Amino acid sequence: MLNYTLERQKFLSYVKFFGLQYHNLGKLKKMGKKRVLTGIRPSGLPHLGNYFGAIRPAIELQKDYELFLFMADFHALNMPEMTGVMMGEESLLLAATLLGCCLDPNKHCFYSQSAVPETCELAWIISCIAPYGFMTRAHSFKDAQAKGVEINMGVFNYPLLMAADILLYDADVVPVGQDQKQHLEMTRDFAIRCNNRFGEIFKVPEPLISDAVATVPGIDGEKMSKSKNNVISIFNNDSGWKKQVMSIVTDAKTLEEPKNPETCNVFAIYKVIAAPHEVEEMASKYRKGGYGYGHAKQELLQKIKDTFTPMRDRYDDWLKRPADLKDLIHTGSKKVRSLATQKMNFVQEKLGFIGRPF
Ligand code: ADP
Ligand code: TRP
Repeated sequence: MLNYTLERQKFLSYVKFFGLQYHNLGKLKKMGKKRVLTGIRPSGLPHLGNYFGAIRPAIELQKDYELFLFMADFHALNMPEMTGVMMGEESLLLAATLLGCCLDPNKHCFYSQSAVPETCELAWIISCIAPYGFMTRAHSFKDAQAKGVEINMGVFNYPLLMAADILLYDADVVPVGQDQKQHLEMTRDFAIRCNNRFGEIFKVPEPLISDAVATVPGIDGEKMSKSKNNVISIFNNDSGWKKQVMSIVTDAKTLEEPKNPETCNVFAIYKVIAAPHEVEEMASKYRKGGYGYGHAKQELLQKIKDTFTPMRDRYDDWLKRPADLKDLIHTGSKKVRSLATQKMNFVQEKLGFIGRPF
């Protein structure tokens, strides 16, 4: 308790001290840190799967890289259910989530994609060198086709916008999970095509293959997903978490019987959160017998509380101050927009456009 109060106070005074200003980017470059870029779509309250699969890996990059992390709101627009009100709310929730999860906006670039219209300008230019046949083979498009969902041009053009996100800021590396591998390959291909035709314009980004992030199972053992209603939220109150954890589906073995941890949904979720020695301890209790699913659920619940309560408090704190949140996003967006404008001036020159009258 004391620890987390202290941690929170430290965090708040830190934010106050730095006045939410950027001043360290030049320093990071000088230190020879590579620039890594990634985006997250604002799309609903995060669950353990989103945290371990997307949020934590992105936040961890700040240790070793100069991080460009953005809210991919232009990308989120291609979801047919997205309204303007939702977009506004989801974006603030995502920002508060990332800050709650310890993103350091002072040292790194945190911004919204839509605040940089140059992204669309570049996506158009890339579209003019992107072969149509190549685009029809993109996973994002083929998945949408397979699901039989409505396909708008935003879905079709998804890899072009993603390439623009990356090439606009000369990113050195982009973290790619299985689902984004092909999109990064496409980005590299587009960059090379542009460079061959117009001269050296773009840095060709390298993939950063992260250690395979396990797919986090939901309370029913299927992949955890908002659409499957089987989630454990990373931000909840104690009774909410309890309700979610207690509904994890298990078999009907009695408390006394030895159990196989590897086939248990409670253990599968615990494995993602707990330290290796804790996982080992729980596994041996399963095998020994005299240890019920109720016990395992209690341990999991405690682990979730210990892990996420400090983050949830920071998240709550940010949500109470939406004006500060917006300020922070605007500051980050302004910073990267000036880089984007410089880059687009250079691109226009290389493309032989007469130039902008400003
Ligand atoms: P959802 O399925 O809940 O709608 P999204 O498709 O919006 O989640 O995924 C957002 C990010 O979270 C993606 O990077 C995705 O790979 C990651 N992610 C989602 N669910 C899981 C999961 N169960 N395990 C690991 N990563 C996940
Ligand atoms: N495609 C990513 C997703 O759907 C979000 C994204 C958009 C992105 N542009 C990007 C990721 C550029 C990495 C680099 O979650």
